[in-house]
Amino acid sequence: MMRRAKISVIGAGNIGGECARSIAMKELGDVVLVDIAIKDKPELHMPKGKALDLSCCGPVEKFDAKIVGTFDYADTANSDVVVITAGLPRKPGMSRDDLVQINAGIVKGVAEQVAKSSPNAIIIVVSNPLDAMVYVAWKASGFPAHRVMGQAGALDVARYKTFLAWELGVSVEDVQGMLLGGHGDDMVPLPNRTSVNGIPVKELLSAEKINACVERAKAGGGEVVKLMGTSAWYAPSAGTVEMVEAIVRDKKRVIACAAYCEDEYGVAPGAKGKGYFVGVPCVLGSKGVERIIGFKLDGEEQKYMDISISHVKELVGVTTKLYPELG
Ligand code: APR
Repeated sequence: MMRRAKISVIGAGNIGGECARSIAMKELGDVVLVDIAIKDKPELHMPKGKALDLSCCGPVEKFDAKIVGTFDYADTANSDVVVITAGLPRKPGMSRDDLVQINAGIVKGVAEQVAKSSPNAIIIVVSNPLDAMVYVAWKASGFPAHRVMGQAGALDVARYKTFLAWELGVSVEDVQGMLLGGHGDDMVPLPNRTSVNGIPVKELLSAEKINACVERAKAGGGEVVKLMGTSAWYAPSAGTVEMVEAIVRDKKRVIACAAYCEDEYGVAPGAKGKGYFVGVPCVLGSKGVERIIGFKLDGEEQKYMDISISHVKELVGVTTKLYPELG
């Protein structure tokens, strides 16, 4: 008998809750929502409350999914996929990098627990600063690199396509594009390779207008933080669940993910076992990152990629200073 996929979401806050809702709505599997007790309020159990509330959407939304909320990793045992959203989100005026100190400790602790309770899981990290947090999760879990990845590109590409579709006055479904690099303001959109169903976007929009969409996508997270006082959750969750779906349905989707690279895109040439996680196009299936798709960047693209890579390395340097055992 086939069993449903088991998907644990660590951190039942804004992104975690929305991920759980979307996973259930798409019937991708059963969901375990994990969070921590709130200090001074031992009577509360937020993940249990969220799971109960979400479960009662089932009859209306017509999904069959078991949704459990817990403080205990025993309930996550043998998960197929674990999404890590635990950690602090940004407040106005903060960059993603400002979260590194606190979130590195949280993600390290979470990944150690996940490795013990679900040794065969595929981990998708969402906590920021993303590229460094994936590295922490990789080291702390001890998992092979193809079973650890970060969600960033799925979101950044979605933002990029949305702004282009608005500018072009066409359906968001008909804009194709890819984006590389770290999940920071120096991410690398690829306007030369962006199209409307194969028609180069450069033939449809002026360079200024394309550039405005590129810049808005890069700063898209910050724009939401300024408006809401905290970071986004709907689009980050949508990007994350796109990855979960590709994995549990073994779809071989090509999605930009923070994946482990050495020679790929000049991330860390020849550095056996000492690579970094950077946003690159990946084939996602039941084994995790099944393949990284490499293609030759032009001089300008590689220049921006190099800047982004060096930023990722700097951030990883901060985490390994804090936790030398992760180096
Ligand atoms: N274990 C489990 N959950 C934890 C832990 C921990 N050690 N530490 C914190 N959490 C929980 C918090 O209690 C909170 O419920 O993580 C949750 C985070 O939720 P939000 O504060 O709503 O933040 P969210 O918007 O979901 O963002 C989470 O993803 O995109 C990134 O920058 C964002 O780092 C942030 C993370």
